[in-house]
Amino acid sequence: MSDSTNTVKNMDDIVALCRRRGFIWQSSEIYGGINGFWDYGPLGAQLKKNLKDAWWKDTITCPPIGPDGNPIQVVPVDTTIIMHPRVWEASGHVGGFNDPMVDCKETKSRYRLDQVEVLTVEGKGSWAFPQGDPDYISKKLKKAGGIKVDQGTVTNLEQIPVEDYATIIGPDTEKPGTLTEPRQFNLMFETYCGAIRNDDSKSYLRPETAQGIFTQFWNTVDTSRVKVPFGMAQMGKSFRNEVTPRNFTFRSREFEQMEIEFFIHPDEADTWYAYWRDLRFQWWQKVGLAGNNLTLREHDKAELAHYAKTGAGVCDVEYRFPFTAPGYGELEGVAHRSNFDLQAHANTCGKGDKMQYFDQEKNERYFPHVIEPSAGADRGTLALLCEAYTPTPDRKGAKAIMQFTPRMAPIKAGIFPLVNKDGMPEIAQKLYMQLREKHVVQLDVKQNIGKRYARMDEAGTPYCITVDGDTAGTQNVTIRDRDSLEQTTISLDKVGAFLDEKING
Ligand code: GAP
Repeated sequence: MSDSTNTVKNMDDIVALCRRRGFIWQSSEIYGGINGFWDYGPLGAQLKKNLKDAWWKDTITCPPIGPDGNPIQVVPVDTTIIMHPRVWEASGHVGGFNDPMVDCKETKSRYRLDQVEVLTVEGKGSWAFPQGDPDYISKKLKKAGGIKVDQGTVTNLEQIPVEDYATIIGPDTEKPGTLTEPRQFNLMFETYCGAIRNDDSKSYLRPETAQGIFTQFWNTVDTSRVKVPFGMAQMGKSFRNEVTPRNFTFRSREFEQMEIEFFIHPDEADTWYAYWRDLRFQWWQKVGLAGNNLTLREHDKAELAHYAKTGAGVCDVEYRFPFTAPGYGELEGVAHRSNFDLQAHANTCGKGDKMQYFDQEKNERYFPHVIEPSAGADRGTLALLCEAYTPTPDRKGAKAIMQFTPRMAPIKAGIFPLVNKDGMPEIAQKLYMQLREKHVVQLDVKQNIGKRYARMDEAGTPYCITVDGDTAGTQNVTIRDRDSLEQTTISLDKVGAFLDEKING
């Protein structure tokens, strides 16, 4: 994997490669696309699946060792996207899942308050611009007579009193005073169940998978052999009507989450919070984000969500994307959510303390507390793409190589007959049929070998196996390493074991 920091990678080049090679495309592209929605092409779908499979295996089927030296217990669930609307009242999403927004009266554009910054130059004026987009403001200032960003001070719009909006030129206008005062905007997508559209049939697309877990906590305890401490895990789509979807898939309106709710005795919150914080940070390193681009950030108390104010802590695993550099963007949050959700559902459904968990050994009733590691599969995939992207100006045919770890690489090996005759295609096909039973491999017989290598380099395939004119006699093939370009000769019957070792070893 690449060890360069992402301050030097160009996001436009990464997006272009994703499009050219079939990692990620705009949803509904033939109709001009739809803002905030993205499709994964053949390579992207496999890459994202590899990340999700790694999470599933490392969390659920081979769960990690707990603080007592034994494997912890985490069970999966798969709950619906549309749930009873009262779920979202109990969880606080109907009342509180809001972003303060400002509108531009002239252009009708809408901006998230905390994502707008204002440059004020004494005696000249104030210009609003989208956070983290210095090019945007530079271009705008050029039009305003060549004023430079360093001539003024930059303040987040949140910090500016509404009375002063009259002097601010909005991000997409040329005159001041077009921004409205901030208003709350609920991020949940609404829909209606059944033929009649009224308040009784109104429901929501889930904005997080977590509430499916909380509402099935009691069935899980009753039907499986789980005992606190234990976890429930779910991966699946979530939907948020983000006001300003941006930065490729980073902030989308439809995205996939991988969430764990780990239920614990309240007295053990500090231990389990530290456990999950460290474990999740290590996991992201294991899938290929090691190095300076990954960081763990503990939140200040002032930043905490309502359910976490008095808890053991909240932190984010963050990645330095090219568009956030030199800053970082969140990949996963780990939060002590106290017993907020279980208690809220127990109260809202009317059963209250009767729904407390009963610990037979301790003869104690309580609502378990929760440590929640909540990760994004799309943001994770985007981080893998950014980390892997390595420009290669001197490698023929490929503008970049994608240095995925073998476990994450969408294609593990390309299999090439050197030329498409003299028995080579038959041997290559036989090898392909054997290897594909266990690994995603691709047989490629077309074009010259250089072009085939270049295709595999941009797809991030770590190994290319070539069957040549000698293979029929020697029973040997050569394996080319994507990163070092080293060619190793290996006997045909050892190729499977070679890949097993590299991918899982
Ligand atoms: N249950 C807690 C929860 O949903 P969150 O921090 O709002 O917490 C968790 O979301 C993760 O989901 C984030 O760390 C991020 O990876 C992903 N995520 C959230 N909003 C997203 C969006 N609009 N687009 C893509 N991923 C998003």
